[in-house]
Amino acid sequence: MVFTKKIRFACLVLATIFLCSCTGQSASTLENTDTTVQKGEEILETLKLNIESFKADKDKYTAKLAFDRDFSGQVTVLLKSEANSQEDKKDISAKGGESFEITASAPQFCNGDFSLIVSAEGTDMQDSASVKFKNGLPQLSVDSVKLVADEMTLQEKASLFVAMGAERNMAATTYVVERLGLPTIHMADGPAGLRIDTPTVGYPSGTNLANTWDGELVKKITSYMGDDCKSYGVDVLLSPGLNIQKNILGGRNFEYFSEDPYLTGMMAASYTSGLQSTGVGACLKHYAANNQESNRGSYSAQVTERALREIYLKAFDYAVDISSPYTVMTSYNRIAGTYTSTMKDLICDILKDEFAFDGFVMSDWGAGGGKDEMIHAGNDMYCGSPDVAKDVEAVVDMVRSRKIKMEDLDRCCENILSVIAKTNAMTQRRPEYEVQNKEEKLQAVRSVGAESMVLLKNDTQTLPLSNDNKEIALFGNASYVTEHCGYGAGYVVVDHVVHVKEGLENASFTINPKIAALYDGCKRHPHVLTQEANPINDEFEIVLDERTVKRSASESDYAIFTISRMTMEGADHADCKGDFSLNDRERNAIKIISDAFHAEGKKFIVLINTGNPIEVKSWADMADAIVYIGLSGEQIGNSTADILTGAVNPSGKLACTWPITYGDTACSEYFPGNSEISTYYDDIYVGYRYYTTFDIDTAYEFGYGLSYTQFEYSDFQVSENSGKYTLSVKVTNIGSVSGRETAQFYVSKPDGKNEHPVIELVGYAKTPILNAGEDAVVSVNVTEKELMTYFTADSKWIVEKGEYTFSVGASVEDIKSSTKITINEEIQVRDVENACTPVNDFEIITKDNPKSTISGENLALNKTVYVSGEEAGYLAEYAVDGSYHTRWSALGTTENFYWITVDLGKITDIDRVVIRWESNTEGEFSVMTSNDNVTWKRAKMCKYEAINNIQLDTSARYVKIMNKATGFFSIYSIEIF
Ligand code: BGC
Repeated sequence: MVFTKKIRFACLVLATIFLCSCTGQSASTLENTDTTVQKGEEILETLKLNIESFKADKDKYTAKLAFDRDFSGQVTVLLKSEANSQEDKKDISAKGGESFEITASAPQFCNGDFSLIVSAEGTDMQDSASVKFKNGLPQLSVDSVKLVADEMTLQEKASLFVAMGAERNMAATTYVVERLGLPTIHMADGPAGLRIDTPTVGYPSGTNLANTWDGELVKKITSYMGDDCKSYGVDVLLSPGLNIQKNILGGRNFEYFSEDPYLTGMMAASYTSGLQSTGVGACLKHYAANNQESNRGSYSAQVTERALREIYLKAFDYAVDISSPYTVMTSYNRIAGTYTSTMKDLICDILKDEFAFDGFVMSDWGAGGGKDEMIHAGNDMYCGSPDVAKDVEAVVDMVRSRKIKMEDLDRCCENILSVIAKTNAMTQRRPEYEVQNKEEKLQAVRSVGAESMVLLKNDTQTLPLSNDNKEIALFGNASYVTEHCGYGAGYVVVDHVVHVKEGLENASFTINPKIAALYDGCKRHPHVLTQEANPINDEFEIVLDERTVKRSASESDYAIFTISRMTMEGADHADCKGDFSLNDRERNAIKIISDAFHAEGKKFIVLINTGNPIEVKSWADMADAIVYIGLSGEQIGNSTADILTGAVNPSGKLACTWPITYGDTACSEYFPGNSEISTYYDDIYVGYRYYTTFDIDTAYEFGYGLSYTQFEYSDFQVSENSGKYTLSVKVTNIGSVSGRETAQFYVSKPDGKNEHPVIELVGYAKTPILNAGEDAVVSVNVTEKELMTYFTADSKWIVEKGEYTFSVGASVEDIKSSTKITINEEIQVRDVENACTPVNDFEIITKDNPKSTISGENLALNKTVYVSGEEAGYLAEYAVDGSYHTRWSALGTTENFYWITVDLGKITDIDRVVIRWESNTEGEFSVMTSNDNVTWKRAKMCKYEAINNIQLDTSARYVKIMNKATGFFSIYSIEIF
């Protein structure tokens, strides 16, 4: 089968003109003139009429027109004002794309307000177009973009390129040109609702939405968000965030959906469709490989082209294809050394040409990279300018000095205009500045919030709880101040968060007053990450004493403890106590609550109120039930109570694997890299692709989630039609209460020229609520897009021939049934020709080269060190303090060596030295050893890398790292094994 490359009609669509503005008809009625009809393998387009220019001088007009395909027939030009109308007809025979002119005298139209309506007849392909003129100037509509752009001055075009600041804590507005009917649009942050300075509605976070595995629910939620945007005059919501949750410590993971590109892409598409159904534009962000917050403005993703395309870009491809977002935001980071906002291959070749994105691309706020490079690369708008007037002048100057091509700035302008013309800004809107239908929206937050929670453990049917006159001993600060959202651009201001305590009380539980009193005045998590200053993060949990807890165990019916973590833009989490692991107070609390309540034969439930996975394995046995409530929005307490009481049967499933230890993750030793480089050592083995292929046990696997009922899978079928596969399965509720189940469909591809993860998600389907005994057949379609793999050497997407196994499961580890199919011939799906810049020649995990774990006792930990010098605040001891967040720094000179010596205290066998660092110096450094700190032996010369993992087979008391070069030199850690 041959792939028919999608033909882009962006420029034709932009210039196509249709009756709209003068009649007040909404732009959305135009959609069916722009449909692409898919018929088997062929893609047919309807005829498009394109007014390339229209000039009305003195008493005559000239219209330059073109069709997108061959046309022969009559073209009518109608000029219409309130008082007059004039019709001119001409027989035309024109080739597709070839322009032709119609000229006629039109004395009464040239200066006043009038509409131009052009229509074509004569074949079964036909179209018409219209534009309104005011004082002789075209007015912006979806159809007059090119005409309007042609009228704009250089200064105006540059002003449109540089977004301006906005009031009410919105993120940006755009430049207004009144004479051309060009209004401003307002852009504000999401993704968990509309972020402005006043309370709106706090919806579930991206991760919580993904845990529902229910696109229809996501659409419903985002259509409510769109409605909120309309109430505040916001035209583009800067969301969804669809970066891959590459590492479980990612600070912004809560804004993103999943570790899997397919699930992420589908969720982003549903999010976008729901939002845009209200006329509010979406913004896919952050394009691309923006997978960490540490050094986010400078790090360069060292990633192979295959991983970039198969893992990090794929979700963007799905979302663009399915939901046509209005805008895309490039990211802060660099890829292979270049800022993404200036990568022509990433933006033009891949996003705009290959994925057929036809909106506008904006930079992230104040992102690095020159404005000229951005414009050249296809970035259409610069956002977050610290000095708008200066940046506008700089762009004007660069056009004048030919550093920026005029045609490139025109492209920016037309892309922005075409989006503005589609938004609600074009109508005479009157924002209410108040959320509408708030009660209905809060109900949706509550029910979708509950659908998004994941039941991780439920021994001996601990849950659901009976709320019949029952008392709960409620522990944990977060039971009283529950986080509804993460912080940073993704934080949504709300009127009232329903904390867990309030939710339980609303569900008629009594809260043990003595325990509640312990938490009076309890502190909220600080809204900055403080691992460096306060690695244990203990002060945000109270110290419980055994006697109090024991007393509560005799008084109350159940115990609940809530663990919470603050998560935010700008900082990643850490593998330390109080972050990935419990802090001492939490661990102690869980132990004594568990002992006390179990001694009374009573149940103990733990709730996890975080945006990321945390370590669970070491304490899970002490709890009878565990629920991941995540950051489910402002109704979080009510949603939690609905799950705990069984008012809602849990059906959420994890969109991200929960590993046993952080060290089990594929890229643990390379995250977050340094300010220069983040090495994507895990390559295509991100998330479950890694754990399943390399047989690593996990705490809770991808797709995992329990229910209060059980489901049976039967009758798994795979059928094929012209290379497309339909996978279906019957799901029966064999338990005693009603519930929903998500069937997950996976593929195992044959290792051919490319090796593959042992299993990959290719579809999923959630049943409706099934009563006990009821069943439903659910199905998905699998196309070449799910089966293809990228061949870097040939720049081709290919479905390899061989034996494929399709499976259905309740999670990636709980496979119920499988079927094999054979593809006899290799299928070339896309020949993209354009290789992009990412690097392909560094060490990555492969099946033959599994992760080499740096393990054993770090002999350098907290040992004495001597150094050549210190920069203020960057102390020598930080190189051996066991933290990758602190560092020793010094400035090198060409005259002097700079060095650090670790004193191991006695002569010791040394196998390996691992150094994590950054430096702006190139070249090689020496690793020296000595037994007396006087006589030195050079053990190795090494080339500086972000992480140097140096094999040594020696013994010594002192280890010295030294170099002679100008520039700074920082060591996050030296580990000696
Ligand atoms: C964030 C974006 C956000 C923008 C505007 C940036 O710092 O990375 O996600 O949309 O600010 O607030």
